[in-house]
Amino acid sequence: MSKKIFSGVQPTGNLHLGNYLGAIKNFVDLNNDNQNECIFCVVDLHAITVKQDKDQLKNNIRETTATFIASGIDPSKSIIFNQSKVHAHAEGSWILSCMAPMGWLNRMTQFKEKAGKDKEKASVGLYIYPILMASDILLYDATHVPVGEDQKQHLELTRDIAHKFNKDFDCVDFLRVPEPLIKKDFSRIMSLKDGLKKMSKSDPSDLSRINLTDTKDEIINKIKKAKTDSFSLPNEEHKLKDRPEAENLLGIYSSVLNQTLDKTLEEFGGKNFSDLKSQLAEVLSSKISPISDEIKKLINDKNYLDKVLAEGANKAEEIAGKKIKEMKKIIGF
Ligand code: TYM
Repeated sequence: MSKKIFSGVQPTGNLHLGNYLGAIKNFVDLNNDNQNECIFCVVDLHAITVKQDKDQLKNNIRETTATFIASGIDPSKSIIFNQSKVHAHAEGSWILSCMAPMGWLNRMTQFKEKAGKDKEKASVGLYIYPILMASDILLYDATHVPVGEDQKQHLELTRDIAHKFNKDFDCVDFLRVPEPLIKKDFSRIMSLKDGLKKMSKSDPSDLSRINLTDTKDEIINKIKKAKTDSFSLPNEEHKLKDRPEAENLLGIYSSVLNQTLDKTLEEFGGKNFSDLKSQLAEVLSSKISPISDEIKKLINDKNYLDKVLAEGANKAEEIAGKKIKEMKKIIGF
């Protein structure tokens, strides 16, 4: 069955292995299936929910675009664009904000994590950010949304909002209710320094993550320094319970090689972390270094990246512009 795919990544710098294995690698597979229509968005409106330096933001928009292409998304097959170029996203977000009850937003755990202790100081944008995400998805009638595990709750909210809009305005199936595409395994890559914390761009320690622009030596060094425990590696999945670092490193290895965790456990069961680490450093650097080299090459070709984004925005505008027009008519504008 052909799928309409929509997903987004924030251009906030330091794209890492979690973004790659949790999301971008799946974008590439979906892009490669000729049956799918894919739209990948650099969500710059989401990025400004926290303060950004304006020059840095411009660079990061290009770098995220370069990362998509360097990872294997083909701009002649998939639409790649940045969100702020298509007005309908912000307009749709406002309309949906007027539909969504505050109680639904109050349940969002990511806002609580990101706002931290001082919620009063967080921007209103950060609070309503999941509604902008719903607008992104619903404007394109997306059938499937590939994301990492941390976005699951936002997708459930998107589904609830679509149902409510269709019901409130008596327009059955006008907003398509999308399905999340979250890989069963390896959809949550953890920090290399703490197996209980998600790998994240905002972690102050660069050793906690593999950046997609890291060199081979940096990757080897980070894997060498990754946290472990003091036991040898198990050969069965249930023995990974309460061993988050072992589970994470074995999971990363499996995901990069596209093999099951069982197969990896078979390979390393009874061995030491040092054996796993040397193999992992090798498979990771052979997977990530070519992407990193390509990002660095593409980032110098600003004209090309800007052209990809401009062409993508034209195509996106055609789809989203039509949908927002219908949406406004339904509301009574
Ligand atoms: P963002 O920019 O934080 O992350 C981009 C993608 O990377 C995934 N991800 C991870 N996956 C596994 N392990 C990790 N440690 C990890 N860290 C990040 C995220 O799940 C995500 O898929 N709100 C979204 C962007 C967005 C969006 C959308 C996504 C805006 N509009 C519409 C889908 C559809 C975000 O902030 O992702």
